[in-house]
Amino acid sequence: MRRGFDVVTIFPGMIESYLGESIVNRAIRNGLLDVAVYNPRDYTKDRHRTVDDYPYGGGSGMVMKVEPLYELLTDLRKDGRARRVILLTPQGRTFDQQMAEEFVQDDRRPVFICGRYEGIDERVRELLVDDELSIGDYVMTGGELAALVIIDSVARLIPGVLGDDASSREESFSWGILDYPHYTRPPEFLGYGVPAVLLSGNHAEIMRWRRREALRRTLERRPDLLDRARLTEEDTRFLRELCSDRTKSSGEDTDESYKGC
Ligand code: ADE
Repeated sequence: MRRGFDVVTIFPGMIESYLGESIVNRAIRNGLLDVAVYNPRDYTKDRHRTVDDYPYGGGSGMVMKVEPLYELLTDLRKDGRARRVILLTPQGRTFDQQMAEEFVQDDRRPVFICGRYEGIDERVRELLVDDELSIGDYVMTGGELAALVIIDSVARLIPGVLGDDASSREESFSWGILDYPHYTRPPEFLGYGVPAVLLSGNHAEIMRWRRREALRRTLERRPDLLDRARLTEEDTRFLRELCSDRTKSSGEDTDESYKGC
């Protein structure tokens, strides 16, 4: 499987520098990922190559113009490929792991429009955009990092990108819960050891321990995730045990939304 993205930005170097390193770079070199970067400045017609202008109605900050983006997308569409045009903005739906998995399955090529300045002419939304995504409830200076976050999280789900295919699937966020604790050598450091089960060589016990530690962490840190997680009966039993221990030791009711608690 191969996945490709188009990124529309007035700062192509931001995207290119990240893609020049590490695992995503190897994925590109191995032909599993391709990312094409386009600059709206190349689609301007005036001498100053203007991509922004003052807001109608006044106020501070500049607004990204519609024409260069319209020309750029019209040009992209000439190859007849199916595309999904996505505007990156804090006003979009919040990106998550499930959406990353949907990108891997979707044959439409995503086009990320990275907003800049104080905003983007509303007609870009009306005429060009299929969907709006945010990477979280905070405001950055532009959508470039958001595009990279999405590309990176999708890239590691493409079979072959991580080398060992199991590592992306087995990792617990794909179960909908947090990750379990990891250890490597030495077996003891400053008096801190490694859980004996991990040194036991008993694969079934190790899997059980990891699953339980992942559940324990999720209950402690992100109980909200448990409502949507894919849980087995054994998971639910274990969580109930943890919940009743907590209730007993705190002497009060837990306020977890977790349904088994
Ligand atoms: N542009 C600025 N902030 C953003 C965010 N949180 N998500 C996506 N695009 C953005």
